[in-house]
Amino acid sequence: MKTTLEVQNLCKSYEDSNVLNDINLKVNEGEFLAIMGQSGSGKSTLLYSISGMDRPTSGKVMLYGKDISEVDDDKMSSIRLNKMGFVFQHSYLLKNLSIRDNIVLPGFKARTKSREEINRNADRLLAKTGIEGVANHDIKKVSGGQLQRAAICRALINQPDILFCDEPTGALNSSTSKEVMDIINTVNSEGTTVIMVTHSAKVASRADRVIFLMDGKIHDELILGKYNGEERRTSERVQKLSEWLEKQGF
Ligand SMILES: Nc1ncnc2c1ncn2[C@@H]1O[C@H](COP(=O)(O)OP(=O)(O)O)[C@@H](O)[C@H]1O
Ligand SMILES: [Mg+2]
Repeated sequence: MKTTLEVQNLCKSYEDSNVLNDINLKVNEGEFLAIMGQSGSGKSTLLYSISGMDRPTSGKVMLYGKDISEVDDDKMSSIRLNKMGFVFQHSYLLKNLSIRDNIVLPGFKARTKSREEINRNADRLLAKTGIEGVANHDIKKVSGGQLQRAAICRALINQPDILFCDEPTGALNSSTSKEVMDIINTVNSEGTTVIMVTHSAKVASRADRVIFLMDGKIHDELILGKYNGEERRTSERVQKLSEWLEKQGF
């Protein structure tokens, strides 16, 4: 199995506090990994340090075997734009653009695909996430769930190898969360590697594997295997994960 991302001896500190301390982690191609832990345990810091949004204090981050922890800022921006997609708790869409324009913008920024191809890709993503009907709407005229779907489309416009998500359902109600997670599972089943931070057991139960951060380290991991949407199996996964989380003191 191919390794998409490998983290070696990663440490991250801010001034006098060590947030991450000697993290080692391998993420396989097509895997869906969830990162859990108490608030303040360093989940976002880990996500940002491995995705080039922030720099580790020490250690290596290898993307398909190439060390990206010390590439210059321009190269890192280009890697982020072309190889990685990002979804956060809030959509951070640009206010003066339509849903569709927000989605295609990173496509044009990357300058690796023709206008036609970017537009075709946007149409496909809009249809897949069920927001084609609001494509030309102002972002103030759509619901929170639709905004988050648009943020997912924007993250996928350059067909990234990895989708990084930080609490993607943190601002959504439970039915909208489910819809967003169904989309993320579909994207993963089509081959995109997903690395997601969440504090929700239900949301994390969609992942193949869950790691638990504590005291700046990976305290434990739980293998769940591929999610298939089957109702009975889904509640078993949530149950298994909840019991495991309880053992972690969560
Ligand atoms: N830019 C920063 N400067 C200083 N401390 C930070 C910064 N970002 C995060 N921290 C600290 O690092 C710790 C982990 O934060 P974070 O990764 O956001 O946790 P989580 O996402 O698990 O809630 C916290 O104690 C937080 O205060
Ligand atoms: Mg966080």
